Amino acid sequence: MADLKVLGISGSLRKASYNTAILKVCAELMPAGMTMTYARIDDLPLFNQDVFDAGLPEPAKRFRAEVTAADGVLIASPEYNFSLSAALKNAIDWGSRPPNQSWQDKPVAIFSASGGPMGGARVQYDLRRILGQLWAHVLPRPEVFVGSVASKVDPQGRVTDEATRKFLTDLLVGFKVWIERMQVKK
Ligand SMILES: Cc1cc2nc3c(=O)[nH]c(=O)nc-3n(C[C@H](O)[C@H](O)[C@H](O)COP(=O)(O)O)c2cc1C
Repeated sequence: MADLKVLGISGSLRKASYNTAILKVCAELMPAGMTMTYARIDDLPLFNQDVFDAGLPEPAKRFRAEVTAADGVLIASPEYNFSLSAALKNAIDWGSRPPNQSWQDKPVAIFSASGGPMGGARVQYDLRRILGQLWAHVLPRPEVFVGSVASKVDPQGRVTDEATRKFLTDLLVGFKVWIERMQVKK
């Protein structure tokens, strides 16, 4: 069977982002039979329905095609003021407009990493709410919140905390089963 194609999206645009670093580590922790590529969202213009209607800008066309083609989408999200980064919400919005909205029936897994002790506990429920109403299927459990992230990821972007590596591994194993289950249902 061909590898499941996972599209990784980080909601943080900064170079030294912990979320982006952990998302890259996920490629190493994935079970056999999954591969990951990464979407860029930093070149998406701010969503505007007039622009959408006039013809999709190239970055939006690319992003929508990547989400549509993926067997599953893994989102690494920072928490900004108890919710999503504007960049991530903007990307979701670009994928969300009909016809052929990109999130329809898409298996999605999420994790969040933040400097605070709760690891983005609040943002995950906003993400679930938004993606759920787009008919994406967000893996319910395990939930992975990487709190106090600076103590768990070193400056080279390696996840040094063993418990965090285990949580991520469990998430990815669960995600593979979730994607396979959704494919059977189709
Ligand atoms: C605009 C802004 C708002 C933030 N709000 C929160 C917050 O609500 N909860 C939290 O735990 N951390 C918050 N933080 C701190 C982030 O968790 C921290 O900057 C984290 O490193 C961001 O993720 P990144 O490293 O992937 O960029 C905020 C940071 C920024 C820049």
